[in-house]
Amino acid sequence: MTSRFDELRVFSGNSHPELAQAICDRLGLPLNHASIKKFVNDNIFVKLHESVREKDVFVIQSLCPPLSDSIMEMLILLDTCKRASAGRVTAIIPYYAYGRTDKKDQPRVPITARLLADMIQVAGAQQIVTLDLHAGQIQGFFSVPVNELSALSLLVRYFDAKGWDNAIVVSPDMGFAKRARNFAEMLGVPLAIAEKRRLQNLASQDGNLTSPEVLNLIGEVKGMRCIVVDDEIATGGSMLEVVHLLIQRGAEEVYACCVHPVLVGPAVERLRASPIKELVTTDTLPLPPEKRWPGLTVISVSNLLAEVIQRIHSGISVDNIFQLHRHPALG
Ligand code: R5P
Repeated sequence: MTSRFDELRVFSGNSHPELAQAICDRLGLPLNHASIKKFVNDNIFVKLHESVREKDVFVIQSLCPPLSDSIMEMLILLDTCKRASAGRVTAIIPYYAYGRTDKKDQPRVPITARLLADMIQVAGAQQIVTLDLHAGQIQGFFSVPVNELSALSLLVRYFDAKGWDNAIVVSPDMGFAKRARNFAEMLGVPLAIAEKRRLQNLASQDGNLTSPEVLNLIGEVKGMRCIVVDDEIATGGSMLEVVHLLIQRGAEEVYACCVHPVLVGPAVERLRASPIKELVTTDTLPLPPEKRWPGLTVISVSNLLAEVIQRIHSGISVDNIFQLHRHPALG
């Protein structure tokens, strides 16, 4: 099928050039050249080195640290494409930051996930492609089309190939339970759920709840190979709490997996030294050598994103990709 838009152009910010290059390699296209530099006054400047007039432009930028720079680069790139008369501009955002700030759950706090969506649209994005949002409802913060894909099926395939007969999937909290249940169904194994309970609610000076918490486990993991699955690992705190609980409860081995390896602060040191047998993740965020260790396995999302770009450009439904990469029940 031919595109109603002129040729395809792919630009990338500086946040994750390796992924952008891998996507372009897969597409068989060059990564188009844009200069992005920061002046001494911290202002970011962008210049495209070729015309995008009437072209079908894709801007790839994962929202990772240095986060504010990543966001500003993306917004300025989108604005640059719009003002250069691009035919259509699509933002490819492998990791959408601020996903956890998606509701007013206490007085006088922002909904930054919504603010970010507004800024991305104002900057010029006419549609969005992203992977495993922290909460699917964030799609509704945009009034342009959002194609949210899931990389969880890539993780399922990886564990499926191990052919274990005593595996169990563990959700690290109630919030992820539905997606973990579907992950377990795709693997054909049972599910356990770790449940965090606040004993009492105490408000700290900044209004955040500081009450002590206890972790319960719903399900039996004794003698089982546990696969703890989450959307992201940031400091590793949540994951390690669950891992230690599983070991206390007699798990034979504990594996962990997540789509987004945010891995900030003490995460790498903690996870490397932990009893986790293997951590399986994707490359939605950069993983430089200092963030890698022998127990880390990285599965690339570049094929998935390249396929989506090709389909969007050709005006072909991405529904098949949802079927290939996203189990219909992955809620
Ligand atoms: C929370 O709801 C998320 O699914 C992750 O569990 C959380 O972002 C992990 O954060 P951290 O690694 O800092 O505990």
